[in-house]
Amino acid sequence: MGYTTLLLASLGILLAGTDASPLSKRAALDDCLKTALVPTLASGSADYTQSIKPFNNRVTFKPAAYAVPTTVKHVQDAVACGAANNILVTAKSGGHSYGSHGLGGEDGHLIVDMRNFKSVTVDAASNTAVIGTGGRLGDVATALYNQGKKAIAHGTCPGVGVGGLSLHGGYGLISRSKGLTLDNIISVEVVLANSSVVTASEMQNPDLFWALRGAGSAFGIVTNFKFKTFTPPESNIVFQYGVNPSSASQLATIITALQDFSRNTQPLEMNMRLFLASYTTLSGVYYGSRADFDKIMQPLLSKTGISGGQITTNTWINTLSSFAYGPLQQATPYDTHETFFSKSLMPELLSPAAITALANYWNANARSNSRNWYLLFDLHGGKNSAITQIPSNTTAYAHRNAVFKMQFYDRVNSGAYNSAWFPFLNGWVKAIQDASPGVDFGMYINYADTSLSKEQAHGAYWIGKYEQLVQVKEVWDPKRTFEGPQLVGS
Ligand SMILES: Cc1cc2nc3c(=O)[nH]c(=O)nc-3n(C[C@H](O)[C@H](O)[C@H](O)COP(=O)(O)OP(=O)(O)OC[C@H]3O[C@@H](n4cnc5c(N)ncnc54)[C@H](O)[C@@H]3O)c2cc1C
Ligand SMILES: *[C@@H]1O[C@H](CO)[C@@H](O)[C@H](O)[C@H]1NC(C)=O
Ligand SMILES: *[C@@H]1O[C@H](CO)[C@@H](O)[C@H](O)[C@H]1NC(C)=O
Repeated sequence: MGYTTLLLASLGILLAGTDASPLSKRAALDDCLKTALVPTLASGSADYTQSIKPFNNRVTFKPAAYAVPTTVKHVQDAVACGAANNILVTAKSGGHSYGSHGLGGEDGHLIVDMRNFKSVTVDAASNTAVIGTGGRLGDVATALYNQGKKAIAHGTCPGVGVGGLSLHGGYGLISRSKGLTLDNIISVEVVLANSSVVTASEMQNPDLFWALRGAGSAFGIVTNFKFKTFTPPESNIVFQYGVNPSSASQLATIITALQDFSRNTQPLEMNMRLFLASYTTLSGVYYGSRADFDKIMQPLLSKTGISGGQITTNTWINTLSSFAYGPLQQATPYDTHETFFSKSLMPELLSPAAITALANYWNANARSNSRNWYLLFDLHGGKNSAITQIPSNTTAYAHRNAVFKMQFYDRVNSGAYNSAWFPFLNGWVKAIQDASPGVDFGMYINYADTSLSKEQAHGAYWIGKYEQLVQVKEVWDPKRTFEGPQLVGS
């Protein structure tokens, strides 16, 4: 420590390095936002303190400023203030990013919280709906249903924001039938880095539209989406089987059978996932008759030795709430949090060796682990999946052919997450990778993995598409106003 630093420290003055400019930059940013009449939350206020609490308690950041615009003009002005003061700008919708990317993914960003952009307007005649990016899935689903019984395809957790979900994927229990949430976007309204507002669609600014659907956070602040809607089915078979693998080889048999089913025979009306945990289940929804359901399931059940099960017939809203683990409508302020570390893999095919490695790791390291971990296998792609049927170059989503969407999740019910626990999930993924020489696995940015370096993140989240995304970034955000530790172009 130099003499000056020592002196300042002894006077109790805290400086970021020896450069005081971040403080004056912040003051200039505050002035700019104030002059433009952009609503903000004052640092230290109750609303601010609540708003910077991320979904994942493990990953917290301190913003430079926190804007809560109510108009598109406010969003434009906020972006202009950030750009003028060299402060990175980050949109936040539901705040559910696993790496707290909605808070910038690091300290010092201007956060533009889209909470006031949550209107849902159905146009029944054209089967479309305009949806603000700040809505949460449970509220969006309820509003769509209340306006003439409409729906879009989306994820299962009702607290997730439609903004982050739709700009990077959006997989749920009707995705095999109707595609990802981003596959149902017709157009978006977006505030660019230079504060202009443009529409992006297949006809208008198609390169931007391509990039926004899979890597949206690096290209602008989306204010609303126009979605294709559908009239939801009202007589749905909702099922859950208890699965109890007693050995690594039995688990391997189950995964092998599910992979074969997903790739070759699973019809698009059948949506399914294996939730491997201390209590393992196979659950999902079939959009068809009970007789057809039984016919489709029988061969899979006999191959895997799964039996019994709870099978009910549900309406659309009950189908959604049975996977929501709580009411669809969300409380304000939203105050649900977990403390966890997560990883993902989007394999196109798991080789027998990879499945054996996965199952052996489970047997040796997971079964005896008493933390609240899980490994979720969504049966994502295959011959009959609506996701796989869309040509890969249509959007920037890089995992069209993934057979499984695998989410590794390790959480504690109280207290902090100890860094000594990272090797548990890192080791599980590594065991699968090591057993798959020559294979590059994709990973899903909506399950952001904070342990990845920038380069690893770019290569895995946008496998095969990263170079093209950087070119599009160069056109729409050449000064890199929308950055984050793992975003395109960062
Ligand atoms: C409990 C839980 C359940 C989940 N279930 C599913 C699921 O079933 N299926 C699935 O696919 N995913 C699921 N996810 C993952 C989820 O899709 C992502 O975490 C998603 O990014 C969250 O979006 P958000 O708006 O809530 O988050 P935020 O943290 O607000 O945003 C996430 C990212 O999107 C950017 N962003 C947000 N809004 C905008 C905007 N308007 N314009 C530009 N960029 C924006 C942010 O800057 C950030 O980079 C789940 C997550 C959780 C925590
Ligand atoms: C995608 O690829 C197909 C076939 O190569 C091509 O015809 C089509 O124009 C491409 N679409 C886009 C959006 O680039
Ligand atoms: C804003 O940026 C876009 C994309 O680079 C460009 O087409 C547009 O002309 C710019 N608008 C202004 C007002 O500079």
